[in-house]
Amino acid sequence: MWNFNVRQLVLASFTVLSFISSSQAQTTNDESSNTTAASIFVSPQQDLAFGLNIPNDSETDFLFSLMMPVQSSWVAIGLGSNQMAGALILMAYPSSSGLNVTLSPRFGYGHTEPTPVSSDSGISVKSLAGTGLLNGTTYVFNGRCSHCRSWSTKGSKTNTTLDVNSREAPMLYAAGPTGQFRSDSLSASVKIHWNYGTFSMDLVRATGPGGVPVMPSTKDTAQSQGAVVRAAKEDKRDTTAIAHAVIMVISFVGLYPFGVLVLRLGGWVRWHAANQGLALVLVIIGSSLGFKISGTYLRTKNFNTAHQVIGILIFIFIFVQFTLGFLHHRTFKKTQQTTKLAPVHVWLGRLIILMGVINGFIGFPLALSPDYNYVLAGLVLFIFPGFALIIVTKNLIQKYWKKSKEGSGDPAGGYNMEPWKQTQAPNPTYAGPDQQSRDIGRPADLGAQQNAREYV
Ligand code: HEM
Ligand SMILES: *[C@@H]1O[C@H](CO)[C@@H](O)[C@H](O)[C@H]1NC(C)=O
Ligand SMILES: *[C@@H]1O[C@H](CO)[C@@H](O)[C@H](O)[C@H]1NC(C)=O
Ligand SMILES: *[C@@H]1O[C@H](CO)[C@@H](O)[C@H](O)[C@H]1NC(C)=O
Ligand SMILES: *[C@@H]1O[C@H](CO)[C@@H](O)[C@H](O)[C@H]1NC(C)=O
Ligand SMILES: *[C@@H]1O[C@H](CO)[C@@H](O)[C@H](O)[C@H]1NC(C)=O
Repeated sequence: MWNFNVRQLVLASFTVLSFISSSQAQTTNDESSNTTAASIFVSPQQDLAFGLNIPNDSETDFLFSLMMPVQSSWVAIGLGSNQMAGALILMAYPSSSGLNVTLSPRFGYGHTEPTPVSSDSGISVKSLAGTGLLNGTTYVFNGRCSHCRSWSTKGSKTNTTLDVNSREAPMLYAAGPTGQFRSDSLSASVKIHWNYGTFSMDLVRATGPGGVPVMPSTKDTAQSQGAVVRAAKEDKRDTTAIAHAVIMVISFVGLYPFGVLVLRLGGWVRWHAANQGLALVLVIIGSSLGFKISGTYLRTKNFNTAHQVIGILIFIFIFVQFTLGFLHHRTFKKTQQTTKLAPVHVWLGRLIILMGVINGFIGFPLALSPDYNYVLAGLVLFIFPGFALIIVTKNLIQKYWKKSKEGSGDPAGGYNMEPWKQTQAPNPTYAGPDQQSRDIGRPADLGAQQNAREYV
């Protein structure tokens, strides 16, 4: 699926680039000319193109043109570094109208989403003619970056400087996955890059009379000039986020409800405990991954989204729940009596599963992948009614068995499916439709007749 999309990108950028020629020619008069000095980088996947001009009448500014196909969610160029940390990063994404481009200058601090530059950095980007959506296929941002040739990221003691005498200045590129993304905000938070890498750029070639670089115009000329790819990576996914989602869905839609099922089906307390114990371990792992991902993106690094807050609550609850279950069982083994902890354990358990499922539905949009909610909804609609059906069927079968055994005087048939019913009903008469229906409906399970039942 993704490979297909990447191919689309390539095709799009071909048509895109062929269109650019004429469009650029129109803006050439005022902002650029065929004598404008420039170095040009075209990414190996041709999913972004970047032209850089260092005007020889300025010590602090540069001009640039950054192009991306409409299918892409964002693209970016990092200057002055061969890793994210320390780079001045120009991120571009479609404006909320979809007809213009938002250019967000940011600093890289490592393997996390770059942070918008502070106002006291002095860095500012002004858009120039030619910026916008061209031919419905390509976004172009032509701009002048002021005070952009030397910078210092927060917490760094040294300044990074673009060395205009270097023929191999270190640079980065990155392109987000395909899919619609729009924002006017300079601090918009995006998905991790799909394709990314490093290149070097000839800044001597880029230096000269100022102007917006003239970008390559056709498929054949869509090649880097004065730029060399150093490292290129493709098809990067946020595997940590994927693992987090998979583990949590398995736990809250699969394991935890399954642990309830084994209890209701056979009263297998040990199996229940082992199963919920395994789920607890998985959720601890999944939560750790969640904490790790949180620090990666602008939208989550302050831990103030609903998904994260609910997640932290659940994280606390699962320990409480496990302890409750353990304490209750210990007392029950001694006294053979249910405890006051039982209803708390039951209701907290239901709350945890409900919150876990809801948090899944909130989590996918937070990860900018709302479509996975359909998959989640499918699983929920399949598994929960499925489990309910199994329990109802089991209860019906049991009802039938009880009836047929009544005459024989052997109510349990030698095999006691619901031991808790024994003390409650020393006289094994059919309890009547009222109690039977309550037996099936969950809330009634907390009723008086359940007193001797260990877990409900
Ligand atoms: C949401 C935003 C971003 C996140 C979460 C992110 C995260 C990461 C991570 C986890 C890696 C290591 C990848 C690996 O294991 O191979 C990485 C590497 C890299 N990223 Fe980003 N990144 C983001 C944005 C950007 C941007 C805007 C650029 C811009 C040019 C960029 C350029 C690079 C490059 C060149 C590398 C390889 C060099 C290095 O290790 O620093 N990234 N990034
Ligand atoms: C867009 O560019 C393509 C390829 O150059 C061209 O065939 C097409 O006519 C252009 N469309 C518009 C609306 O200009
Ligand atoms: C530059 O453009 C001018 C007109 O805009 C043209 O006469 C000239 O031949 C061009 N030079 C090159 C090297 O393409
Ligand atoms: C910039 O370079 C052009 C062409 O080499 C030259 O004519 C011009 O004088 C230079 N400007 C400055 C300010 O050095
Ligand atoms: C596009 O956005 C820039 C600012 O990023 C603005 O200066 C320009 O006028 C906008 N163009 C259009 C056509 O709205
Ligand atoms: C870094 O640059 C700023 C101006 O942008 C300057 O005030 C400061 O002294 C520089 N620091 C170093 C260590 O060069």
